Amino acid sequence: MISLSVGRIVRTPVLATTFSWHKPVRDLQPVMINNSLKDRILLTSTRNHGDHSGDPGTIPVQFILKDNSVHDTLAREGEIALRLAQRHGIPMEGACEASLACTTCHCYVEDEKHWDMLPEATETEEDLLDQAPFLEMNSRLGCQIIITKELEGIRLRLPRATKNFYVDGHVPQPH
Ligand code: FES
Repeated sequence: MISLSVGRIVRTPVLATTFSWHKPVRDLQPVMINNSLKDRILLTSTRNHGDHSGDPGTIPVQFILKDNSVHDTLAREGEIALRLAQRHGIPMEGACEASLACTTCHCYVEDEKHWDMLPEATETEEDLLDQAPFLEMNSRLGCQIIITKELEGIRLRLPRATKNFYVDGHVPQPH
């Protein structure tokens, strides 16, 4: 999983060589952009990289951090809570980058009405949550929460701590 911009590496493919259960191959869309270039330059789909749309979002979502500070954000329709958090500098880690292979995006859905609107967690999400520290009845994984208009006003609280058993110390940075 190599992702390069012209002339420089913007992302290191460490995980792909270490874990076969990282990003599905189908998410990669390699394109040879210029045969005359000295080196092969591969581009991957923009949906895996950064925030290029410039759309600030319109759906209010509130994050409550470990220190109880409250952060108001605006989500885009269909945006996952993890990406929204990353866009706003909220410390929801997302070590596996939404591959459903860690628990570092663990959060609590604060209000029952929003909890009831969410689709049920899959078995994989449930299995991961079972390994999350400070598991509560309202626990979900932030990368599995898709924000829609109906969820307007949803409040997501971050846990006191998360455990990164995916790759110790790997903290993905939005880019
Ligand atoms: Fe790893 Fe959500 S980011 S499961």
